[in-house]
Amino acid sequence: MAFATTKHLKLRAYRESDKDIFLALINDQRTTRTSNPGFAVPKGEKTWKEMEEKSLSTALIVVFVEVKREYASLRKWDEWEVRKADTEKTQEDWDRELFAGYSSVHLKHPKVRDGRFGIVIAPPWWGNGFATEVTEWVVQHCFEQLNLHRLSLGYLANNAAAKRVYEKCGFVHEGVTRQAWWLDGGWVDQGDMGILEDEYSARKKQLTNEH
Ligand SMILES: CC(C)(COP(=O)(O)OP(=O)(O)OC[C@H]1O[C@@H](n2cnc3c(N)ncnc32)[C@H](O)[C@@H]1OP(=O)(O)O)[C@@H](O)C(=O)NCCC(=O)NCCS
Repeated sequence: MAFATTKHLKLRAYRESDKDIFLALINDQRTTRTSNPGFAVPKGEKTWKEMEEKSLSTALIVVFVEVKREYASLRKWDEWEVRKADTEKTQEDWDRELFAGYSSVHLKHPKVRDGRFGIVIAPPWWGNGFATEVTEWVVQHCFEQLNLHRLSLGYLANNAAAKRVYEKCGFVHEGVTRQAWWLDGGWVDQGDMGILEDEYSARKKQLTNEH
């Protein structure tokens, strides 16, 4: 069952049966090179358990993203993927195909109410506005339901798509951590962004007045 829904998406809790699709996502170089640039080796079953204990279950909120079935045709297919007719698909096939990633917020210091935001969208679903849709929801939920004071994030400075998503959702540039990551044979800066509760409220008011 979904915890929340947005136009195209269901945002739900993770479940034990997500292990394989989650591991496939975090081992996909297209996602992991910019979302987990510290990873040095492929991740296996042990990582799922570690991430469950140390990351997923300690998050303030973590939502797994599933595309509503009526939008299944927005999926782009990798050439190696086996495509079955809808009538032949098992529930497992649907779960794998409609899985579109996850987003999380971790609270380091509860007193400060500063949540660290993260998001990964699965490559078959890139370019549909889903990261924006999820980020908008998480930001709203964090300020309106979870009473955070700020949300923070870091992104690889050459990750133009991520930067664009965060700007669209109201995050403000706060600085640069120089040469923070090693990627493709060179050092890459990390862009740091944040949004405060007052900024969220002002932006909401402005968007409401525009419509
Ligand atoms: C970054 C990521 C979350 C974007 O997901 P997405 O669902 O494709 O994003 P959206 O469709 O909501 O928005 C992408 C925006 O970036 C823009 N964009 C995409 N590639 C771009 C590029 N190379 N240069 C500039 N803008 C770019 C798109 O045009 C779109 O903006 P628009 O709506 O104004 O046209 C996704 O690619 C991803 O998960 N990547 C791997 C993991 C990762 O990097 N996570 C973020 C870690 S900080």
